[in-house]
Amino acid sequence: MRIPFIAGNWKMFKTRAEAKAFAEEFAKLYTGTDVKTAICAPYTDLQTLVEAFAGTGIGVGAQNVHFADEGAYTGEVSVKMLEDIGVDYCIVGHSERRQYFAETDETVNLKLKKLLEGPIRPIMCCGESLEQRDSGVLFDFVKSQLEGGLAGISAEDMKKIVIAYEPIWAIGTGRTATPEQAEEMCAFIRNTLIDMYGEEVADEVIIQYGGSVKPANATDIMNQDEIDGALVGGASLKAEDFMKIIDF
Ligand code: PGA
Repeated sequence: MRIPFIAGNWKMFKTRAEAKAFAEEFAKLYTGTDVKTAICAPYTDLQTLVEAFAGTGIGVGAQNVHFADEGAYTGEVSVKMLEDIGVDYCIVGHSERRQYFAETDETVNLKLKKLLEGPIRPIMCCGESLEQRDSGVLFDFVKSQLEGGLAGISAEDMKKIVIAYEPIWAIGTGRTATPEQAEEMCAFIRNTLIDMYGEEVADEVIIQYGGSVKPANATDIMNQDEIDGALVGGASLKAEDFMKIIDF
């Protein structure tokens, strides 16, 4: 039985004061549901959120991490540093990082392996561009992202990874994938995981959909069999909207 997991991705939004105001409002609205939730925030907001959400059951996630233990990597943050703050999740391989910050399947793989040495659960993103969808290579492309990103990761570790399917053309565009399009790819992802890890492992993996999820479409998306959650960008910035999505 997979417990639904809906995470917010704040991207590069919110100062500490704004994060604190959100957390106070959201913690009041959130009375505990059957849905697990977390906010993935900028590094500078993580401590504030960990403190504000203590004892509420609301998780906190980072949006990126480096794969080395430590070293001369100016501007980077290590897994140990995130663990020290008490972060629960870390997004890896978001399409914006692939597009603007040279993230590749190889670096995704290294980051996943480093995170899996400790307690932080990775949220690994995948998803095709509009050109890839229109030219029909969408399934091959997502399969290659999964095979590259997950190379050498054990079945036991795979159970800790959340997969977020985020078609690039649906991110921040207001153009959500239809529930059927999202379900089709999430089912394909689960089948790929069955091929790679067997049914028992694939059955346990949480697969989220992301891309213009909002209160108005959350129910239709969450009602799909193979979609176990959502990664929510824009609509996670307002506590009331995000709460409505969790209450789908
Ligand atoms: P969006 O972003 O909900 O604003 O489309 C989703 C994401 O990039 O995780």
